[in-house]
Amino acid sequence: MFQIYFSREDLTVQAEPQANLLEVMRKAGLHPDAPCGGHGKCGKCKVGIRTAEQSEPQTVLACQVQVESDLIVDSMLSGKGYSILTEGVQMATTFDPIVRQVQIEVEPCIKGESTSDWSRLILALQKEGLLLDGPAPEPDPEIASQAGPLQRSTGGRMWALVSGKNILAVSADKMEYYLAAFDIGTTTVVGYLLDGNTGEAVTVTSRLNPQAEYGGDVINRANYSLEHGTEQVTGCIRQAIREMLAELAQKAGIDAGKIAGVSIAGNTCMHHLFMGISVDSLVHAPYNPAVSEPMIRRAADYQFGIHPKAPIFMLPNIAGFVGADTVACLVSTDLAEVKDWTLLIDIGTNGEMVLARDHEMIACSTAAGPAFEGAGITHGMRGSEGAISKVRWAEDHWDYEVVGGTKPRGICGSGLLDLVSELLLSGQMDEMGELQTEEPRIILADKDESSTGAPVTLEQKDVRQLQLAKAAIAAGVHLLAESRNIDVTDISEVWLAGAFGSFMSPESACNIGLIPPELRGRIKAIGNAAGEGAKRVLLERSAWDKAAYLAAECDFLELATIAEFQDRYVDELEFPEL
Ligand code: FES
Repeated sequence: MFQIYFSREDLTVQAEPQANLLEVMRKAGLHPDAPCGGHGKCGKCKVGIRTAEQSEPQTVLACQVQVESDLIVDSMLSGKGYSILTEGVQMATTFDPIVRQVQIEVEPCIKGESTSDWSRLILALQKEGLLLDGPAPEPDPEIASQAGPLQRSTGGRMWALVSGKNILAVSADKMEYYLAAFDIGTTTVVGYLLDGNTGEAVTVTSRLNPQAEYGGDVINRANYSLEHGTEQVTGCIRQAIREMLAELAQKAGIDAGKIAGVSIAGNTCMHHLFMGISVDSLVHAPYNPAVSEPMIRRAADYQFGIHPKAPIFMLPNIAGFVGADTVACLVSTDLAEVKDWTLLIDIGTNGEMVLARDHEMIACSTAAGPAFEGAGITHGMRGSEGAISKVRWAEDHWDYEVVGGTKPRGICGSGLLDLVSELLLSGQMDEMGELQTEEPRIILADKDESSTGAPVTLEQKDVRQLQLAKAAIAAGVHLLAESRNIDVTDISEVWLAGAFGSFMSPESACNIGLIPPELRGRIKAIGNAAGEGAKRVLLERSAWDKAAYLAAECDFLELATIAEFQDRYVDELEFPEL
């Protein structure tokens, strides 16, 4: 065994000869950034390694290193200061929670009769309008055991916590209870705690999705789980949800056992990986989901440490690459009910979009690639501390803003959009994406200005990556419109969901043609709409049924099967004339 010392973390672990260094870092709990899943392509797992005798570290990709001696490893910062979008535009909801507390009157058992305690409890609930559809639920031994003694001690007046056909608890006194909603994104996970009795937001928590160490985007992550089994990838997201539930309870100062219902929205891959469902269908044509139906599970099956009978509501998926997070966006925004054509876009490594009007909905997904999240860009990074997030050309120099107000160490998606937009506007780049500068690179911050001692630059090849990403989204927008025989100018509004949509400049997005320039002035950011949708299904019972309806009724346009897609995609590689 070799000793591996991680200097930044002051941690020593043992590694087998020939162990993969990235794997060693994962096992050590360091959560290395590995967007390409360890295939040596993204360059994000860079570390400095040296032996005790060497003073200068050698920079290597951890995923490409086999351990052959004791090592000192200087790992890179990962995820530090990462700001996660938790807020979304809130629509008015009718408070009618999916897990409800009702006061009931249970009749005493009359002498000479032998109606069971359970039957009388069910009858009392039915008098309140509950459990009326279909056959009565099967007796729950625990609740049935409590029903008789409670009836006798309270005179029959008691409280019950009910969801669908499940009786979660009965009590002499009104119970305090909570609901938790989760948005599991490919990059981030957000959890919200709501008061079950009032619907009020209590607290929120968020973190980076720990599955990132098995691949930054859904394809790499799905491939990893196919190669190595779903155990690790499923295990780490369930563990994250478990910890986040405990965090929510701790922040709110409550016992986690009082959390009596959970909803989960995520893209189809995140949905399947959380459930432990094979993602095989997602990576093979025609890329359909294994499950698209809504599912209800029990917390006890996941050892979540909350109320064991708490239902887990898994929102339904639409297609292989249009998942429950998009359904949650539809739920929170009432997009299906708008009277004029409206386009909802959620841009990440995939761009999911839905065009809708008056209950007509059509969705598509385009593989934008990871450029908007900073991967594949020479000095690209996520929107965490040190990322240049806004850029302006000031006649003869670059002005920029940095996340956290520190010295820059890279550029994130919103900064990249601004930079390319400014290059076009100032004539430093032509519509084909050719830099018109003396050198084929732009130096945004020189080595003295940056926090790494190396300049932060934009290279010609980075512009190419951005062109590929923006062309995919723009082609999707045009083809969605054409599928409904409308022109993009007929779209009255564009709603941008998700973190990138909230942080980017709509003006820059139109300048570079990511969003058709004709839609300038019609764009609004709606924040974490998926998170709002996950909350809404908990707070409004009808929203859960509506989610199933929206998923089933939303048409899906498979861009890969459309003959015009390739031509449109190539057309959109060019930037608009400004
Ligand atoms: S290059 Fe190593 S994880 Fe991507």
